[in-house]
Amino acid sequence: MPVHTEITVELGERRYPIIIGDGLLGGSYDIAAHVPGSDCLIVTNETVAPLYLDKLEACLAGKTVQTLKLRDGEEHKHLASASAVLDALVDAGANRDTTVIALGGGVVGDIAGFAAASYMRGVAFIQVPTTLLAQVDSSVGGKTGVNHPGGKNLIGAFHQPRLVLIDTDTLSTLPDRELSAGLAEVIKHAVIADTGYFESLERDMPALLERDASALGAAIARSCEIKAAIVAEDEREHGKRALLNFGHTFGHAIENTVGYGEWLHGEAVGAGMVMASQLSDIPDADRQRLRELIASARLPTDAGSVDAGSLQQAMQLDKKVLAKRLRFILLRSLGAAFVTDDYDEARLRQVLERRGVDAA
Ligand SMILES: NC(=O)c1ccc[n+]([C@@H]2O[C@H](COP(=O)([O-])OP(=O)(O)OC[C@H]3O[C@@H](n4cnc5c(N)ncnc54)[C@H](O)[C@@H]3O)[C@@H](O)[C@H]2O)c1
Ligand SMILES: [Zn+2]
Repeated sequence: MPVHTEITVELGERRYPIIIGDGLLGGSYDIAAHVPGSDCLIVTNETVAPLYLDKLEACLAGKTVQTLKLRDGEEHKHLASASAVLDALVDAGANRDTTVIALGGGVVGDIAGFAAASYMRGVAFIQVPTTLLAQVDSSVGGKTGVNHPGGKNLIGAFHQPRLVLIDTDTLSTLPDRELSAGLAEVIKHAVIADTGYFESLERDMPALLERDASALGAAIARSCEIKAAIVAEDEREHGKRALLNFGHTFGHAIENTVGYGEWLHGEAVGAGMVMASQLSDIPDADRQRLRELIASARLPTDAGSVDAGSLQQAMQLDKKVLAKRLRFILLRSLGAAFVTDDYDEARLRQVLERRGVDAA
């Protein structure tokens, strides 16, 4: 049995394990032990299925397994795809004991999770994330949902999984750009919560980019620990969970301005974190360290050709606008963040206009 790390998301009766290891798929990890009834529906997509579906099925010995392959891409993260999952459950005659298993990136996980939350008012759900972003971020914490033409993730539900199984081997086939996008969320976890972790990322970035199994395993585990602790404290985002949006107010503005699909989410968050550090009262040397770490992960560190006016406009539309003032997650230091709507307007303009330059 391969060695694995286990982290618990402490949510009382709904507590669940995150299992992280190298080579857990293929039959060596008994996922079936976490499946309450006899029936499962695996939801995956056309890209991931040929790579990992057989290996997942090998971990479900003794269960009746059906599979649904969705089309690949964020543009298919809409109600019709969630509906297709519900149709598959109805067609299979699924009952309350059926388990939905998501195999894929955040898009598959969000759609499958939303369908699991709604079928018969909620059936068991397991996440088997296969992108770095999904492994460190979207598979943990119970946010599920789909996009609407009126907004991203506008339709959704909280529905915690009962197991998150992370096989770091799956990252071997991930495109480089997707790996870097996932590293943006890894850096985010370090910068909001753990100075020591930030330092270890500065040291380990070359190994992470080379997909060194032990470096990846350690970073995924630390990131999941940080996210799990925040979710356990504030499941529904009434307070501390908002810290996980560090870099995202700026990042969403970039995504909204250039149109989704042009930049990957993690790339926009990379530039967004640099901008959030420019709005924070921290030493210039620390801003420089953050920028260098983001650049070393092969992520953009500024908004490129996106103009300040468009960014400003897009930020006003961000769903986090409360009583007309924006809310930002700012840094006290590298390793500590806080939520505030008390920021300097002039400095915000300066950050948006000068972008690539560190604000005074
Ligand atoms: N629920 C949450 O808390 C939460 C948090 C962050 C992001 N999200 C959502 O996650 C989504 C983004 O997730 P993502 O970055 O994983 O994108 P994704 O699911 O689109 O995956 C990226 C690409 O990689 C492919 N892929 C997946 N695993 C692979 C593998 N092992 N080898 C080769 N290719 C592979 C996918 O098919 C896809 O083409 C967004 O919709 C975002 O809104 C949700
Ligand atoms: Zn994000």
